[in-house]
Amino acid sequence: MQTVQHHLFLCATPTKALCHQGPVGAQCWEQLKKSIKAAGLEDPARKEGVVLRTKADCLRLCSDGPVLLIWPSGHVYGSLLPERIERIVQQHLIAGEPITEWLVKQFSF
Ligand code: FES
Repeated sequence: MQTVQHHLFLCATPTKALCHQGPVGAQCWEQLKKSIKAAGLEDPARKEGVVLRTKADCLRLCSDGPVLLIWPSGHVYGSLLPERIERIVQQHLIAGEPITEWLVKQFSF
């Protein structure tokens, strides 16, 4: 059985483009893939569990995008930029310290 530490949902290229415009979402998605892979977070042998990622069409927030939801903690980052992705991976996903100034919402599941 595989353990999942986090599942990330990024509104990267939404059909209606309500939360952001232009290529920034796709750029964030590409950076997210690179950063997760480079940090070894997809390794099934990782003791904390793997980090999964999904490109979502819309997360029903529809402002301050691109928007990244982290499950199961419910943290939502907004106004993403490719250069912010690496810090989120290192500080939030690996070190377990959310970057509070970039959060736009907190869900509870
Ligand atoms: S269009 Fe991005 S959250 Fe709805």
